[in-house]
Amino acid sequence: MSTTLITRPLSSAHQGISANTAPAAMTQGGLAHNPEGLVGNTPLLWISAPLVEGGTGFWAKLEGHNPGGIKDRAALHMVERARTRGELQAGAEIVESTSGTLGLGLVLAGMVHGHPVTLVTDPGLEESMQRLLTAHGARVDVVTKPHPEGGWQQARRDRVTQLIASRPGSWCPDQYHNPDNVAAYQKLAWEIATGLGHVDVLVCSVGTGGHSAGVSRVLRHLFPQLRLVGVDSVGSTIFGQPARPRLMRGLGSSIYPRNVAYDAFNEVHWVPPASAVQMCRQLAASCYASGGWSVGAVARVAAWIASTAPAGTRIAAIFPDGPHRYLDTIYNDAYCREHKLIDTPTPDAPAEIDDPFGLEVTEWTRCTRVVDPREAGVVA
Ligand SMILES: Cc1ncc(COP(=O)(O)O)c(C=O)c1O
Repeated sequence: MSTTLITRPLSSAHQGISANTAPAAMTQGGLAHNPEGLVGNTPLLWISAPLVEGGTGFWAKLEGHNPGGIKDRAALHMVERARTRGELQAGAEIVESTSGTLGLGLVLAGMVHGHPVTLVTDPGLEESMQRLLTAHGARVDVVTKPHPEGGWQQARRDRVTQLIASRPGSWCPDQYHNPDNVAAYQKLAWEIATGLGHVDVLVCSVGTGGHSAGVSRVLRHLFPQLRLVGVDSVGSTIFGQPARPRLMRGLGSSIYPRNVAYDAFNEVHWVPPASAVQMCRQLAASCYASGGWSVGAVARVAAWIASTAPAGTRIAAIFPDGPHRYLDTIYNDAYCREHKLIDTPTPDAPAEIDDPFGLEVTEWTRCTRVVDPREAGVVA
């Protein structure tokens, strides 16, 4: 990772990102010469009562204000680095597995740099998202059967491998293991640091591990006492739980992505879909800012931290996307009733466990021991 941004003196950082750290395409006064210029500089919104009690709150970084979502940053950076290294030749095809957000970023990067894009998804992808990806010019390839152990995610990855092998010159960003997916988030960290001046706690959802690793690396360099809180889905394998079918998309995984920076986390929370849905709906009703599964789960955890941390603790929570793609799921009463997501109140504090491998969790649960399951020998 380049250290040019993170070694900048804090005093100048707090006055804002100066022109010489801004990418060439950055929006100037609302003018963008291409869609890449619309990425970044997303707002920070203060979230407090009625979602957080006790006169306190947290700052939400609204990544849904990017043209596609948080992964516009990762897609552009991975594509630009691969082009620079010569791994992605001019005009060559990009093929990747995605649950949607990276797909939007890749079609943006493909448009900016002139690459056709094929996206491998599964039947859980919302129809509206599939139409949007197609409208932006992507070819969408839907796998029909989950892998017996690695679930839909492994099935998608296997299909990507097959497509890459059959299309000479095509390139896969491999967001789960590509370090450029982590490095892509330096500027996001700087936007938080310059906006807030100081950060005590960072709350991030974890899927590939990219944004939690990338943002925390820069923020911890600036604020060494930073507490990093990871938010995963119930039924996800990332932090050592058994793989189960998951309703939530974006956060969580059924594999072990190498981009997850296990050492960086102070604690992990597993959140069930009902908690995420109810928080999304409360956010929409009280803050005019909401989003998808990961937004609801992150907000649930950040609100609890705000209500339990000492007064004055400055908390930043990353909201990866906006609500529009979820109108037929999270914001649809019939869907939520069918999946038992809205009629029963959810807890306002997590259960606690000491050992991430000892017990299968099905409710909102917190663990302050974070270990790489492969290093712990829990998985092969
Ligand atoms: C909507 C959404 N939220 C959260 C995440 C998790 O982010 P990361 O992959 O950087 O861990 C993703 C990843 O795909 C996502 O699409």
